[in-house]
Amino acid sequence: RSASLTLDPARTVAPVSRRTFGSFVEHMGRCVYGGIYEPSHPTADADGFRQDVLSLVREMGVSLVRYPGGNFVSGYRWEDGIGPVADRPVRRDLAWHSLETNEVGVDEFMRWADKAGVEVMYALNLGTRGVSEALDVHEYLNQPEGTFLADRRGRKPYGISMFCLGNEMDGPWQTGHKTAHEYGRLAAETARALRSAEPSLELIACGSSSSSMPTFGHWESTVLELAYDTVDYISAHAYYEPVDGDMASFLASAVDMDHFVDSVIATADSVGARLKSAKRIKISLDEWNVWYLSRFQSAPTPSEWEVAPRVIEDCYNVADAVVVGSLLISLLRHSDRVTAACQAQLVNVIAPIRAESTGPAWRQTTFHPFALTSRLAQGSVLDVDIASPTYATTRFGEVPVLDAVATYDSASLTVFAVNRSQDEPTELTFSLAPFPGTWQPADSWLLSDADLTATNTQEAPDRVVPQPLTIELDGETVRVSLPAVSWAAIRL
Ligand code: AHR
Repeated sequence: RSASLTLDPARTVAPVSRRTFGSFVEHMGRCVYGGIYEPSHPTADADGFRQDVLSLVREMGVSLVRYPGGNFVSGYRWEDGIGPVADRPVRRDLAWHSLETNEVGVDEFMRWADKAGVEVMYALNLGTRGVSEALDVHEYLNQPEGTFLADRRGRKPYGISMFCLGNEMDGPWQTGHKTAHEYGRLAAETARALRSAEPSLELIACGSSSSSMPTFGHWESTVLELAYDTVDYISAHAYYEPVDGDMASFLASAVDMDHFVDSVIATADSVGARLKSAKRIKISLDEWNVWYLSRFQSAPTPSEWEVAPRVIEDCYNVADAVVVGSLLISLLRHSDRVTAACQAQLVNVIAPIRAESTGPAWRQTTFHPFALTSRLAQGSVLDVDIASPTYATTRFGEVPVLDAVATYDSASLTVFAVNRSQDEPTELTFSLAPFPGTWQPADSWLLSDADLTATNTQEAPDRVVPQPLTIELDGETVRVSLPAVSWAAIRL
């Protein structure tokens, strides 16, 4: 099989947004306790943060971290997590049926974020709480000294720019779940109040928790009709898994993500048109990943109330990593409207990084396409024309075997490509003729394996790692062979 790309440095989508490479830390399972924070671990620093995890977070190129939830946030009292740790209450977390010790609160998390070198996207509780508590936590985080809550902080304001107005408020599972109208009014009023405190905030209204929600579309349009002028973003959440072993459809998950994003853009723009507004709402894809959700849904609800139980610690294989790489291609392709995205989550809980108290932290297979894309995507995203054979899928019809996106600055061109064929390599070609200057192949990478089920484990943490990829430059034509089920970063 062969496929080709047409690239043109003049046809740009948007600058690469660093916030595309966001992640998510929720007080859930062993993401915080036993993940980023474990004072008894040999690598823990004076603040109790695991330095082995911190060093992998930095290596992964994470730019932004959404915190503290997730479903957790919809029952969270942020003030439980401030002040002397010994005085902090233990509370029930209804979302994950576990106990929250509040040992880590927002001040500890901000210290961790500083060490990790990441921006924080703070999620507000609009499930059990409302405008007043949103203003309180904003005052604690961002208000300059001289008010009651700012002075309780006792240090410089954190200057957080991005606030999520709740989490998945469309989901019947959400504590404090609301109708689109109820939520749209609350989001609009919370946004208005927050803006009175700090006009430059970037505010994210909850969109749909998946494109398969029965309210999808109607939810976005109702919420935006009520909150269009006061918010900057609408969120979207997208998780993928192989359904009934249907690998062909699973490998095409990015086709669904493309369609989801395009549908949210169309819906938001139609509201903008009705409101005669020149403003364009951006999309925050602030939860996305591969998640073996059906396993979680078929597991019984725990009967005990435990601190940091093991929850959804999915172990990712080669096929999962190829899908993660392809979802990043979809996100980059939409960089004009998707300017923030968070892979969910960062450590242990459906995460690219795993950590055990008895051992080291290690990189799951999915770590690698994220880290390479974050490192190599530079400059502008190019609008790529793809000529590719197609294959049949049960869920998404005929889909292209090859998908790709490119980023370009005057010093480098990187093509991120995926071959979704399960049985054949794809020979990919593209021309450098439209690009000024002389080009040479640079370090390029391939993620593929004869065993699609291979994983990285504590015992064999580097079983699956990207391999150097040889690319051929024939005059101005680049040729590269992509094995079946592979993801590649091709660099010039
Ligand atoms: O990331 C796990 C959970 O998935 C989050 O808490 C929730 O927002 C989503 O449903």
